[in-house]
Amino acid sequence: MENVRTILAIETSCDETSVAVIRRTIDSSDHDPDSAARYQVLAHVTLSQIELHVPYGGVFPNLARREHETNITHVIADALAQAGLLQPKPTPSTLNPELLGEILSREQILLPIISDFITQHEIPAIDAIAVTVGPGLEPALWVGINTTRALATAWNLPVIPVNHMEGHILSCWAIDTEFSAPSIPLPGIALLISGGHTEFIQVNSWGSYQYLGGTVDDAIGEAFDKAARQLGLAYPGGPKISKLAAEFESTGAALDPKYELPRPMINSGDLRMSFSGIKTAVRYLVDKLKAANGGELTDHDIAATCYSFETAVSDVMARKTRLAIESTAAQSLIIGGGVAANARLRAMLQSVANEYDIALALPTNQLSTDNALMIAVAGIQREATRDLSVLVAQGNLQF
Ligand code: KG4
Ligand code: ZN
Repeated sequence: MENVRTILAIETSCDETSVAVIRRTIDSSDHDPDSAARYQVLAHVTLSQIELHVPYGGVFPNLARREHETNITHVIADALAQAGLLQPKPTPSTLNPELLGEILSREQILLPIISDFITQHEIPAIDAIAVTVGPGLEPALWVGINTTRALATAWNLPVIPVNHMEGHILSCWAIDTEFSAPSIPLPGIALLISGGHTEFIQVNSWGSYQYLGGTVDDAIGEAFDKAARQLGLAYPGGPKISKLAAEFESTGAALDPKYELPRPMINSGDLRMSFSGIKTAVRYLVDKLKAANGGELTDHDIAATCYSFETAVSDVMARKTRLAIESTAAQSLIIGGGVAANARLRAMLQSVANEYDIALALPTNQLSTDNALMIAVAGIQREATRDLSVLVAQGNLQF
């Protein structure tokens, strides 16, 4: 006996418009719960707005909202087509304008596009729609939430609200287009490191979480981006800092003490972290270096500061990660978020996991950044509901 469930998942919490279709098949004759559920990625389409936000030095919320409104329907259509679930109607139906008018009263760009899409296509063979309800940028989140309300109403389907951070925790599951629940021993510590978050969460079981501590000010990715800006590197600065730091290291040169940066709260004895101090220290350092060189930074100054910044951040994260493991009975370390793409941090986390002889679960680079597949993996485990108000009520759900 097989139990099959297919869902569409939508993610618009920041600057990626992303849609996935996932199918779970449970073989009820299999008594091993881990191998009983098989997951198939039927489609995954992500449209990044990052280029549009570069001139603003960060994600500009209302621009993000406008882009999501313009593109979300096309991304959904592409994903359904990729999954083989998009069927044009021989003759377009008519849609009662009041049906979606109220739900999308604030999405005037989206309303005509999605109305056309609905009237021109058959209802796809899916069981529910999952959507990120928070945390994230509110104007951006609303586009995904209201798109989901509109489609659920037009297609008469239930919905599944998903917490974005749970998505990041589960992003390590989807190692291929087909997978089953990974054999990561629990309880584990999830470390979520992104442009908006830096936090330790205890994973008691998949679906049961407890916040342990995190940044008291800037997120780690934000610190990377702001430090990069001080150094004249364009947004998003994380990957650029990473590249220049590696280049500096490969020269084998020792770091001149004048580039040293502080490690705020490293000795606080708890899991609180602070990154705004490092960012400010970079600003003072840059001012000092410029003053010593006729108002300009040399290439060596930039590369040495990148290396110094990255090692400072990595030292803080290493100390806090050890503390998180020691203060819980963690059997695994689970990483999620865009900053997980950083090679130095990945290597540091691997060596900390080896030190304690615990498992390390990392997402692929593609699934480190925001994506709908992780939302699909989290959503397909959860109950669907016909009560659309849960999407609104949980709009800013936090751990
Ligand atoms: O998870 P994500 O895609 O979006 C948020 O939810 O924030 O993370 C984006 C963040 C940006 O701050 C970016 O600079 C950072 O991840 N990032 C990196 C690297 N790649 C992306 N930071 C350091 N090193 C990297 N290689
Ligand atoms: Zn994220």
